[in-house]
Amino acid sequence: MDIEECLKEWEDLTTDYKRLEIVNKEYVTKLEEVGELQASCMKEINHQKYRMFIINNALKRLEKKGSTKDERVAKLEKEIMKRKAMLHEINATLPKQNSLYLRIILGNVNVSILNKNDKFKYKDEYEKFKLILSAIAFVLAVANLYIDFRPLQLILIFLLVWYYCTLTIRESILKVNGSRIKGWWRLHHFISTVVSGILLVWPQNEPWEEFRHTFMWFIAYISVVQYMQFRYQSGVLYRLKALGARHNMDITIEGFHSWMWRGLSYLLPFLFGGYVFQLYVAYTLYNISYHPEATWQVSYLAACFLTLHCCNTYTTLRTLRKKTQSGMKLRYRLYAIAYRLSNELAILEQKWRPGKVETKSD
Ligand code: COA
Repeated sequence: MDIEECLKEWEDLTTDYKRLEIVNKEYVTKLEEVGELQASCMKEINHQKYRMFIINNALKRLEKKGSTKDERVAKLEKEIMKRKAMLHEINATLPKQNSLYLRIILGNVNVSILNKNDKFKYKDEYEKFKLILSAIAFVLAVANLYIDFRPLQLILIFLLVWYYCTLTIRESILKVNGSRIKGWWRLHHFISTVVSGILLVWPQNEPWEEFRHTFMWFIAYISVVQYMQFRYQSGVLYRLKALGARHNMDITIEGFHSWMWRGLSYLLPFLFGGYVFQLYVAYTLYNISYHPEATWQVSYLAACFLTLHCCNTYTTLRTLRKKTQSGMKLRYRLYAIAYRLSNELAILEQKWRPGKVETKSD
């Protein structure tokens, strides 16, 4: 290329650059527009919530005064329930402030995922992450059952500290993005981080030797349960995706339940088996705490395992009770989730048209 050609190339490139400038300007304007639309959506949501609060209070006052609950009141209550579910799902499409925990760990970086497919991908990755780490924990636990080698034990325990710590971060990000994960499961993973931390500083003494085998069996067992949970959760995730993509809607709400939560009854005995195992671990630790060489870790861990056992059993039983109640609230919640997933109200209306998915109470 001689200088003439270079100059000509440069001129050409300058014309292309002008095109880039125009596209970029359009992009920046659209970004500003998106920001404004987000702000106005948030304002409208708050407006909806505020007015619903007033209407709800008025209904409660009417009920207290003893006025009879006629058809209009029942219809209005249903509509309010439906609107609440829809607002939750609309909210999930808007950016949110990080929780305090995320602000401390990540700073004020934006972790909102606004695209529904990316949200799915993130949740899917989270489930796969749990599966891979459970598989590694299983191998290490089994190896520790047969090999008495302190560094191998420490590797497993350190892996657990890191794993649970990472879970708490990932779950906080999921929560910011509209996940309905219950507070207990998140707290469960915080407590599990603490438990693993305590195990890490438990000195290699006689009580540890007594506890080691039970602990390794426990880790191996919950790794298998995690695998089953993975199969169940990914099933739910893909069925929700299918729900948003217009399939399987020509069924009754009862049929819908067994379709949506398929595999739950298969998973449950293993989950409850895990809770019984947790209780057994707590009992073993309680017994070890009487050992003359027992350090403070033993009683702390016994208390933690007992707490995990009680709260896990309670939360799972409560979740099951909610799932088996084919109530109106659940129906609207599912309707709202499908709305978020498909974002195509017209298709949805067609899918949920009267007479297709009906509860008996409806
Ligand atoms: N960990 C992480 N996320 C969980 C969870 C858990 N233990 N349990 C539920 N979630 C998530 C779901 O994936 C769902 O997320 P989404 O809103 O992003 O889609 C949300 O919380 C609501 O779930 P929900 O409808 O209440 O329950 P589910 O049908 O997904 O799962 C159970 C119900 C009982 C199977 C599930 O809670 C579970 O596996 N619990 C047992 C966990 C446990 O005890 N572990 C220790 C074993 S010893």
